[in-house]
Amino acid sequence: MNELPARMIDPSSKTEDRFDLTMRPQRLADVIGQERVKKNLRILIDAALQRNDPLEHVLFYGPPGLGKTTLAHVIANEMKVNIKVTSGPAIERPGDLAAILTNLHAGDVFFIDEIHRLGRAVEEILYPAMEDYALDFVVGKGPSARSIRLKLPRFTVIGATTRLALVTAPLRARFGAVYRLDYYDVESMAAIVARAAGLLGVTIDEGGISEIAQRGRGTPRVALRLLRRVRDYASVRANGVITRPIACEALDLLEVDSLGLDDIDRRVLRTIIEKYNGGPVGVGTIAASLSEESDTIMDVVEPYLLQLGMIERTPQGRVVTRIAYEHLGCSFPNGSPNQPTLF
Ligand SMILES: Nc1ncnc2c1ncn2[C@@H]1O[C@H](COP(=O)(O)OP(=O)(O)OP(=O)(O)O)[C@@H](O)[C@H]1O
Ligand SMILES: [Mg+2]
Repeated sequence: MNELPARMIDPSSKTEDRFDLTMRPQRLADVIGQERVKKNLRILIDAALQRNDPLEHVLFYGPPGLGKTTLAHVIANEMKVNIKVTSGPAIERPGDLAAILTNLHAGDVFFIDEIHRLGRAVEEILYPAMEDYALDFVVGKGPSARSIRLKLPRFTVIGATTRLALVTAPLRARFGAVYRLDYYDVESMAAIVARAAGLLGVTIDEGGISEIAQRGRGTPRVALRLLRRVRDYASVRANGVITRPIACEALDLLEVDSLGLDDIDRRVLRTIIEKYNGGPVGVGTIAASLSEESDTIMDVVEPYLLQLGMIERTPQGRVVTRIAYEHLGCSFPNGSPNQPTLF
């Protein structure tokens, strides 16, 4: 396993996907949390099955590790159809997309991960494919060139993105249903940890479950990864039994704090506080100061800190709030020119 030591709990790193796969719920009823999305999907699926129609095109968005890919597979299972999986950057040329589309069968799910990274020319092939189940292409060159339209089977595109804002308006408009996945509440996280522990055959008590749930940053992928690390710790130090004190020791060792913040989250906050006086400061500047990718900051760090209310977005940039100062044990600068509007 070649996990990056720098980011123990990076939810966007998929190095342990093989393990995640075995943890994936197969049916909608087994999916924990995301009640609003599940209710909507149930209706969408049942209506399509009743009419014997393919499902409408569905777009999922939200931070990494919350279950977009899982839900795409669940939908295919529920519809009893095949799923073809690809991702935006993997489809380089329009011809690549045409090849996939012409191999689909009626009703199939075509899952496009990171759909915001589709190239322009590829995206334009997708528009008529989604709308009219047709493939338009030009044969010949110059004055003798003509456009040919090929009928495609009626299929379903499921798109997933961590950045809805980067999905072009015409593409977004072609999805019949768009769902945002939110961070999971602690109860759902606890249920996910308990279920995974059961599947893994790990002995864990309520305290252990709740500690991992609390520090899993509302993200199933992170919680599952923490569970594996805590299990290792417990098998070396505590005969394999995970209790709250054991979970705490293991998680402290991983530098995952009581709210699920890890080293990079704290470095982002500290940088804004120490170098930029609490903000406002742009994401690009923060990323450069930390030698981190802005994408990591935007996809992984920022959404969770926003959710916790530790940073706020202003037109001038990001501002650290009192909650973050207190969490880090820093004194909040009263009367700081960039802070007073927040409280
Ligand atoms: N609601 C859930 N109930 C139980 N387990 C879940 C749930 N959602 C996600 N998981 C688990 O978390 C793992 C990560 O989920 P998934 O790969 O679907 O996330 P994702 O949103 O597609 O992430 P990314 O944006 O990085 O592609 C899955 O392998 C699955 O085991
Ligand atoms: Mg995914």
